[in-house]
Amino acid sequence: MNLAIQLLYLLICTTQIYGWYTCDDKTFCRNIRYKEFGESSFKLLADHATITHDSLFLDLVDTSRNKTFLLTVNCAFEQIHRFNIQDPEKRRFNPKESLQEFQFKENGNYIIANDRIITYCGPSTTTLYADPFRIEVHIYDTLIATANNDGKLVINTDDDDESISMDFEFMETERVYGIPLHAERLSLRNTGPGGTIPYRLYNVDHCCYAVDSQEPLYGSVPVLYAHGRRRTTGLFWLNSAQTFVDIQNNPDTTKTFFISESGEMDFYVLIGPTLEEATRQYTLLTGSANLPPQFSLGHHQSRYSYMSQYDLLSVVKNFDEHDFPVDVLWLDIDYTDNFKYFTWNFDAFPNPVEMQQTLNSTGRKLVVIIDPHIKVEEGYFVYDQGMENGYFVHNPDGSVFTGQCWPGLSTYIDFKNPHAQKWYSNLFDLDYFPSSTENMFIWNDMNEPVVFDQDEETMPNYLVHYDNWLHRDLHNMYGFLQTLGTWTGLMDRSLNTRRPFVLTRSHFAGSQRYAAIWTGDNLPTWEHLRVSFPMCLSEALAGISNCGADVGGFVGNVETELLQRWYQAGAWLPFFRQHSTKDSDRREPYLFPDDVQATIRKALRERYAHLQYWYTTFFEHELFGYPVIRPISYYYNNDINTLDIDDQWLVGKNILIHPVAEPQTSSINVYFPGGIETFWYSVEKNLMYFGVGNVQVETPIDYTPYFYRGGSIITRKNTLRRSSIDMQNDPYNIYVFLDNNNEAEGTLYVDDNISFDYKNNKSFLYYQLTYINGMLNMYTLDEDSHFEDKAFIESILVYRNPNQFEEGTKYIKLSTDNVLIKNNLNLKLKSGLQIKLL
Ligand code: GLC
Repeated sequence: MNLAIQLLYLLICTTQIYGWYTCDDKTFCRNIRYKEFGESSFKLLADHATITHDSLFLDLVDTSRNKTFLLTVNCAFEQIHRFNIQDPEKRRFNPKESLQEFQFKENGNYIIANDRIITYCGPSTTTLYADPFRIEVHIYDTLIATANNDGKLVINTDDDDESISMDFEFMETERVYGIPLHAERLSLRNTGPGGTIPYRLYNVDHCCYAVDSQEPLYGSVPVLYAHGRRRTTGLFWLNSAQTFVDIQNNPDTTKTFFISESGEMDFYVLIGPTLEEATRQYTLLTGSANLPPQFSLGHHQSRYSYMSQYDLLSVVKNFDEHDFPVDVLWLDIDYTDNFKYFTWNFDAFPNPVEMQQTLNSTGRKLVVIIDPHIKVEEGYFVYDQGMENGYFVHNPDGSVFTGQCWPGLSTYIDFKNPHAQKWYSNLFDLDYFPSSTENMFIWNDMNEPVVFDQDEETMPNYLVHYDNWLHRDLHNMYGFLQTLGTWTGLMDRSLNTRRPFVLTRSHFAGSQRYAAIWTGDNLPTWEHLRVSFPMCLSEALAGISNCGADVGGFVGNVETELLQRWYQAGAWLPFFRQHSTKDSDRREPYLFPDDVQATIRKALRERYAHLQYWYTTFFEHELFGYPVIRPISYYYNNDINTLDIDDQWLVGKNILIHPVAEPQTSSINVYFPGGIETFWYSVEKNLMYFGVGNVQVETPIDYTPYFYRGGSIITRKNTLRRSSIDMQNDPYNIYVFLDNNNEAEGTLYVDDNISFDYKNNKSFLYYQLTYINGMLNMYTLDEDSHFEDKAFIESILVYRNPNQFEEGTKYIKLSTDNVLIKNNLNLKLKSGLQIKLL
């Protein structure tokens, strides 16, 4: 039975026998999208305003049916306008768990007239026009956004049709980014006449997905950024029901149209005015990721499945023997007893605790999979307890819903139920999850959720969750709610002392607080490698920085050339894991010829050399909300050429990466942004490029083009070890790349890599490094912080602009005069440190 299910699934994967619904297939969407909209029938009763300490309430009447709704307007963080519309006669669902806790701003001034109301939020205002109802957002005198200007506001209130819609326009913008997850480029296409179908947000298991597609995938994050040379404005549509989004890019304005199947209308306008600001504003609402434990930024090795304890441990042994660093080993569904989560297949894994101890003794961690479906089997403790307490999702008649997944007939945990949440979290208790240790971390999969024998292989809309909410209302946040439970379980099991690591496939707005994500079941093709870049970039802009793709592609066998290029690219995305399915050939790196091994080893070495830079960037993501990976136009949007670039990106602010994603490529075109005064250095090639647009860069198979920005200081650790733990006390090598003023700056963050002491006891070092007038200075960015770091600064390298520009050249070879190297320094990191270098 189980084997049959797995084979059926693989067949579905490899043949894509399922089609995916479009707006035209869904009555609610079709009815709204093709409606002839005239002037909006909604009218605001502007003279009936009620004001409380942080909200403005207004009656909003749909004059076509004489029905009154309640409009609430708030200001958050002085930069975010919130609009909420409720039906006083009927509750509607709001996925509020997606938001982190915050207070709306105390009320400021209002101007209330008969035909309009103006509210203030920091430098921006909202003007609510009464009749017909429409919204304008201004920054000072500049109009930046409108809502309902085209009169497409719809709120259906029938039980069988609760769909809603709203049109938005964003001024002074040219492109739209966001609303992941789609296997699509970063800059979204026009939908509608002459364009594509609307983008669909509906979490589904969509194996082997088509590329350049608006079809739904595993996650949905309903935030978008209207972006361009002049400004960025964001929109967060807080809704977890199935949603379709139309996009129209015009030369100086963009339009979008949101249609959701149900839920309360609740949206936030983020005033930007830069992409950097708008993404930060979004994380003020939904939070940023906790600093991940450092091991999770290392290299992960997975397979569906390592079938035995012996198999898993021999993989580690081989990694060590062949000098490939790896931090985490993964166990897929076959480690369980017949796909019963929280149990073990003891025949294949006779001693899981000993196995974890062995891993741990070599500095490695284990991740095991826990899916949300629970095998229907009396005597299986998870099933029994769930049934006894009513913790599973129900049919409308009150019976427990069952459907097919890996174990055969299964029930599904109702994570919306707070009691079920608590119970599920407790299952991760070390005393409760048999043979678990604190070095075991968790992977949540199939949590869209997948139900093989239902339409689109997911849960039907009519199912009933806690408090009588329909599945329709919360579909896109089901996986989010699972990760909330998993995260809480891992926090509780360590009494809040150790940072959890959770990977999830299904995700929603705010998932970054609980889990990393990956791009699901991809293929070993060049186009799947290429599309993983914009997929993760859009996720990063949507708050979820910790993203990666299965290295090598999940389904099928990978050619060695592609595998090497995939390692090189994967090393520059935040989550870095090799994973492949059952019937694919084994592809652990040590199985390949020596030259291939050497290329992969080099890519891994580059990842580990920059681990402290990744870690520092993640720390700053937590602190400030900036994404960890950034599109080129994040900083250089005044250059129109950058707006569509998504085959290269920035890690933090300072590393520009353009991996090779095409076969047999001896050179690629790299776009160096920033103009003539911006320098980009290649340490490996000893070259300095000066911001000149396109340059053809040679790309032999063992080379990944990446460049350091002139003006930055980057700390590396250059010794190759088995894992990140082994590198903890290794020396720092500080690289200084001078800008056109011969200056540079950077930051460095260090802590114990695993615990919450950085938060609870300020146990960390966070330094600003500057290079001015030939002097490297280091000073603390937090006077109260402290940490005993055993690592020393071994070397400082200063890369200088040779100042020998020749007409027509785009790069310069650096000579030994241009690179100053100080070795054997043996200095401790210290605030106040000053080193004269020139
Ligand atoms: C799903 C996951 C894949 C996993 C498999 C078995 O297809 O996306 O990564 O290996 O299920 O658990």
